[in-house]
Amino acid sequence: MDIYSWLLLISFILFLYWKTASPKKLPPGPRPLPFLGNLLQFDFYNPLKDLQRIAQKYDPIFTLYMGGKPMVFVQGFSLVKEVLLINGTEFAGRPQYAIMKAINKQKGVVTAAYGQVWKQQRRFLLMALRNFGLGKKSMEEKIQDEAAYLLQIFEENMSVPFDPLGFLESAVANIISTIALGKHFKYDDNTLRQVLDLIHENTREITGPWAQLYNALPFVRRLPLPHQNVFKAKEKVLAFFSKEVEEHRATRVPGVHRDVIDAYMEEIQKPENKGSSFEEEYMLLLVTELFIVGLETAATTLIWGLLYLMAFPEIQEKCQVEINNVLGNNTCIKYEDREKLHYTNAVIHEIQRFANVVPLGIPHAPIKDMQLLGYTIPKDTAIMTNLISVHRDESQWKYPHEFNPSNFLNEKGEFEKPEAFLAFSAGPRVCLGENLARMEVFLFFTNILRRFQILWPDETKAPDLTPNFGITLTPSRFKVALKCHQQM
Ligand code: HEM
Repeated sequence: MDIYSWLLLISFILFLYWKTASPKKLPPGPRPLPFLGNLLQFDFYNPLKDLQRIAQKYDPIFTLYMGGKPMVFVQGFSLVKEVLLINGTEFAGRPQYAIMKAINKQKGVVTAAYGQVWKQQRRFLLMALRNFGLGKKSMEEKIQDEAAYLLQIFEENMSVPFDPLGFLESAVANIISTIALGKHFKYDDNTLRQVLDLIHENTREITGPWAQLYNALPFVRRLPLPHQNVFKAKEKVLAFFSKEVEEHRATRVPGVHRDVIDAYMEEIQKPENKGSSFEEEYMLLLVTELFIVGLETAATTLIWGLLYLMAFPEIQEKCQVEINNVLGNNTCIKYEDREKLHYTNAVIHEIQRFANVVPLGIPHAPIKDMQLLGYTIPKDTAIMTNLISVHRDESQWKYPHEFNPSNFLNEKGEFEKPEAFLAFSAGPRVCLGENLARMEVFLFFTNILRRFQILWPDETKAPDLTPNFGITLTPSRFKVALKCHQQM
């Protein structure tokens, strides 16, 4: 036999092996290749177009293989609701990816398997966030201070059009940093900038093709391939947070909680927590995770917001008129003002609906074998909830395919949130930072809108609303021109 016949024979044997090893009654999908699965059938750095094509054919449920591992995609409000809410607990697991295990041993909240440890850590974090909100200086005041600082930075830079992304990221990072580390960084602080860049790069890489290969093929894991950069970056990020932990250890006063680290250290020392999941490594990974999930999501929402407000100047103007009419000369915008700012609140929600910052949610997994539309989804199979399909579901929205704040306004012009708004997902795994993120987004937006007119500076082309894919959907970098319309 020549080399080609050998290759053909080997491929055939591998295919038979893979066919018999794979579960039977999964939803249909495009034919996978042995071992590689469907990895070669879409552009991994920007898979949305390919996913849309496949989704149209197999709607509302289909399977793609990441190497030998199946990943089930569910679409449309009714099916996504079944996964997240109706059978929420049964689908509240997380798939166990080799790369995530290697990075964080699945400690933290986001990637933790469903169970006691996840519940314990999630409960602690929710309580910690709530406590800092009720502390001496409330969360709202901290965000207001940061918004004031952001406006000042914008003013200092507005003599020419500028790229706002770095400033918005620093503002959002400072909110998390104040809560988690008790620290505020200057926007030009290089230490924080480097950590943010590493986090950015890693979130992009862990959804990229090398990470998928790492998950699919054990023998590539030790090879000197690009996925090794993820581990180098992780070490640098952990070194930054370890230093913060050491500083806390040296300065902390028992019983006083300046931030999440202090509160966690106290938790570790409680006698009833001896031998529990509360330990130093968990703390380090949990705090790191807060920056990973809380930073890019909120900063990307704000950056999309600026872009849409420039692309739709008449909508921007209506927000500004409403803010002026409702708030008049009040010096400070409060979170509770959203109840009076119906139109502006609708615009903020429409930005989130249209931008789909976390387009496919975070993968879920059934905690036992489950049935969905007559298919069997085995325990631990990855399930992607396509939130874009929910936010464009024609049975749920007045204007599913256009940017239109009326999607969130009733006939009286009052704000109303349809059930199909799932930017923060829903059910037992719903975004843990939802309240914090809502407050941040509202206060940053309204403050910017009240102070500035936001103008698209490039007369030669219109704003580009095409998204780039990662764990989050982001716009391409752009510049804004600002004009003050009110001295405060
Ligand atoms: C606009 C900003 C944000 C958006 C759009 C967003 C969206 C999401 C989504 C879609 C999920 C997946 C839920 C699921 O698995 O079904 C999630 C999970 C999570 N988010 Fe957010 N998020 C935002 C901001 C934040 C912030 C500021 C924090 C914390 C400081 C945070 C912490 C988390 C955590 C810890 C989880 C995992 C929850 C779990 O697995 O139990 N998020 N978020």
